[in-house]
Amino acid sequence: MTPHRTLVIVAHPDLEKSRITARLTAAIRDVEHVTVHDLSAVYPDRRVDAIREQELLSGHDAIVWQFPWHWYSVPGVLKEWMDQVLTYGFAYGSGGDALRGKRLRLVISTGGPESSYTPSGHNRFTMAELLRPLEATAHLCGLQMEEPLVLHSAPGVTAAELAQHAARYQELLSAVPAAAR
Ligand SMILES: Cc1cc2nc3c(=O)[nH]c(=O)nc-3n(C[C@H](O)[C@H](O)[C@H](O)COP(=O)(O)O)c2cc1C
Repeated sequence: MTPHRTLVIVAHPDLEKSRITARLTAAIRDVEHVTVHDLSAVYPDRRVDAIREQELLSGHDAIVWQFPWHWYSVPGVLKEWMDQVLTYGFAYGSGGDALRGKRLRLVISTGGPESSYTPSGHNRFTMAELLRPLEATAHLCGLQMEEPLVLHSAPGVTAAELAQHAARYQELLSAVPAAAR
């Protein structure tokens, strides 16, 4: 049986200035059967090679979008990737079943604390509500969306908390899903 392969798409505009995304990426870089794909490193000019990306997606069973929460959504680098790669005939529409049945997990860090993502909080809406467009995207592409892994309060997270979160992430990626056993 071929191993269960996971493609982690890291989408940060400047990983060198990142604390959270950089630490999480380091934690999963050497996990077996995991391919780490840092979009800003591969495409510094944001000119995404859609065919290459589609081949990468097709060669993996599970996909992770790992990113910092920017303006209640994905960073521009990931939006650009989505626009170029999730095309008609590949990801949706007639014959567009390349992603059908693959798993998708979102790994997100936010500046705001969890309490700010409530109806009476600073950010007014819950994360589940704000994630609806991505959920709809996954649904259209036939991707099975898993429980997102969210780290809130990024600026205040202690080194120990970050290490614990990174360990949890590593554990999630190391686990072989029941369907692939
Ligand atoms: C352009 C920009 C937009 C941001 N928008 C949000 C936001 O909408 N909500 C939020 O909670 N944090 C927001 N933040 C904070 C980031 O999510 C936070 O700094 C990031 O998750 C930390 O991860 P990093 O160390 O990998 O950069 C924003 C940060 C930037 C630079």
